[in-house]
Amino acid sequence: MEIVQRVYYFEGCLLLRNYNIDDGVRINMGVLVISGGYGLDGSTGIVAQAIVARTKSKGVDCDVFRNDIITLPLVGSPGCWNSESVSEYRSMVESSEGFILITPEYHGTMSSTMKLQLDWLGKDQVGGKPFALVSMLGGVSNTSSLNHMRHVVRWLGGWCTPEQIAIPGGRSHLSDDDLVDEGLSERLDGVLDSLIHAIEKLGN
Ligand SMILES: Cc1cc2nc3c(=O)[nH]c(=O)nc-3n(C[C@H](O)[C@H](O)[C@H](O)COP(=O)(O)O)c2cc1C
Repeated sequence: MEIVQRVYYFEGCLLLRNYNIDDGVRINMGVLVISGGYGLDGSTGIVAQAIVARTKSKGVDCDVFRNDIITLPLVGSPGCWNSESVSEYRSMVESSEGFILITPEYHGTMSSTMKLQLDWLGKDQVGGKPFALVSMLGGVSNTSSLNHMRHVVRWLGGWCTPEQIAIPGGRSHLSDDDLVDEGLSERLDGVLDSLIHAIEKLGN
């Protein structure tokens, strides 16, 4: 296996990334789920935990960033620039190879919890890394929050997979720990497979 380091520029920023150029070799990868729900309660938490279980069952390390345990300060609030929570969060992100963003849709966009978590990141942590996108809706499926997260990831220098999923109807398609709708379940697996494929292609 040969690892090559490529240098490229994104919006005036220098990015250094290692690429595994042997497609046949599985890369040691870790995926971090960043949830726009608070903690693991609620429908977003149920699906976030299902994503962790499904990703692990595909042989890939996966965890959720616990935003209820490590509380991030509002950007600009007193002491925020030296926050230990922010440092801890950024190190978790920096050591991850790919990300799944899952947000409840609030007033047609991602939750403020999700946006705050994205605002504490930059190209140093996520530049050149792949993202998969999931939205949770009380109403019918739409791509509004997905599009908005895709837009922000582009500003962070990340790569979003083309596959994405909007899960409609609040809890109506969920059990206590997973999706029960067969079509949605297959689509979620497709999104996760696509992310794993992207991590393998982009390398570490
Ligand atoms: C403030 C607020 C705004 C919401 N706006 C929308 C919306 O624009 N579209 C929608 O489909 N659902 C909307 N909902 C419903 C939530 O997206 C939906 O119930 C979601 O599953 C909640 O996730 P949770 O159980 O993890 O909190 C809204 C809910 C709240 C609390």
